[in-house]
Amino acid sequence: MSDKATLEVNGEKHEFPIVVGTEKEVAIDIKTLRSVTGGVTTIDAGYKNTGSCESEITFLDGEKGILRYRGYSIEELAEKADFLEVAYLLIFGELPTKEQHDKFHADIKSKSVVDDDVRKIIDAFPKTAHPMGVLSSLTSALTAFNPSSVNVDSEADMYNSVVKILGKFPVLVAWTMRKKQGLPLDYGSNSLGYVENVLKMMFKQPNEDYVQNKIIVDALDKLLILHADHEQNCSTSTVRIVGSSHAGLFASLSAGISALWGPLHGGANQAVLEMLEAIKEDGGDTKKYMAKAKDKNDPFRLMGFGHRVYKNFDPRAKIIKKAADEVLADLGVEDPILEIAKGLEQEALNDPYFVKRKLYPNVDFYSGIIYRAMGIPTDMFTVMFALGRLPGWIAQWREMRLRKEPIGRPRQLYVGETFRAFKTIDKR
Ligand code: SDX
Repeated sequence: MSDKATLEVNGEKHEFPIVVGTEKEVAIDIKTLRSVTGGVTTIDAGYKNTGSCESEITFLDGEKGILRYRGYSIEELAEKADFLEVAYLLIFGELPTKEQHDKFHADIKSKSVVDDDVRKIIDAFPKTAHPMGVLSSLTSALTAFNPSSVNVDSEADMYNSVVKILGKFPVLVAWTMRKKQGLPLDYGSNSLGYVENVLKMMFKQPNEDYVQNKIIVDALDKLLILHADHEQNCSTSTVRIVGSSHAGLFASLSAGISALWGPLHGGANQAVLEMLEAIKEDGGDTKKYMAKAKDKNDPFRLMGFGHRVYKNFDPRAKIIKKAADEVLADLGVEDPILEIAKGLEQEALNDPYFVKRKLYPNVDFYSGIIYRAMGIPTDMFTVMFALGRLPGWIAQWREMRLRKEPIGRPRQLYVGETFRAFKTIDKR
């Protein structure tokens, strides 16, 4: 393959280097485009064909349904690793030794207390507030209580911010849910594992001991791993671009949470359950919803289906679908919603509209069924996605800062009014 791409603009030919990644992906480096062509730029709505950065963190192949974190397959990590190991891998690039793992966890636990004044902020929210809006606000508010976590130029300062947010974020997640339920805002225990502690903070009843259920611990651990990173998706790109202005880590994460909230992105897991519930209420009439999804005049989409990159099965969806069967069976939960989801999947996989557009179930299609079986409220599903994605956002933000990436500032093509003189109001 040639190492140059040639572009002809206004009769002039220009060459641009072709760069090849470690997985043989090919890109054209157009950083000199404007200067050699006298100002010509590219335009690519939704960045469907445009790379924003080089990254060593996550590789995915949408055609083959491959997902790897730092070279390790998602299948192996989901099966053999725990969430804290995967967080360490994503952020620092290697699976931790036992010593590294234990120190990482100890450092996180040492920073897991949240300033008690945060309770006053939570109290100010109405119980009807969506948890994602509360979580985004609380994450940004952490900056006010941890000002040293803003200007983190040294690796030591960055590490401090990383363990702080990994320690405090689960507290914010638990308190956000419990506030809506009118339950006391407590801590778990530093004697527990990371995921056990999350569950205890979320579910412990004030007048009972909390008994861990290994099925639920393992299921949540696996779900968090499956959500941990996904290269330059909408929310991760948001974290990177906000961080590129040298805004602090917590402020960048707060922006990422807001991006994830959208129903086209992480908010889809909540929208999937609401859709399946609506179909159930409608007597299980999946055909009606399939028709709506295909009707161009109907804004309804089959939530949990389709993906910007995967034009094959989302490997995470396969793992979660299998886990849904296992977890519900182990918990002895009969959920008609699961059968409706499977029926809908079969219909879509055999429908020409979906087949032609290569629309397959994505990570959000089955995850809500497991969250629900675990007793997590539907409007907390996207919060659980954010909890899983946290190490990925941190890893990507850290990589962007360590690589000293320039501030993100895309160009545009102006299509508005050309020059016109001001008219006084009496002449309009
Ligand atoms: C996540 O990017 C990531 O990596 C995200 C994520 C991560 O881990 O970070 O994987 C997590 O966000 C998963 C996606 C969750 N969202 C949903 O499940 C919402 C439903 N899906 C769609 O809205 C859609 O598929 C997107 C947003 C996911 C992708 O949209 P694209 O790539 O912009 O594709 P498109 O909107 O241009 O659709 C192409 C065609 C269109 O039809 P035509 O105009 O060609 O006739 O496919 C149709 C769309 O109308 N289409 C759907 C559909 N998804 C796409 N039609 C019905 N139902 C759907 N779900």
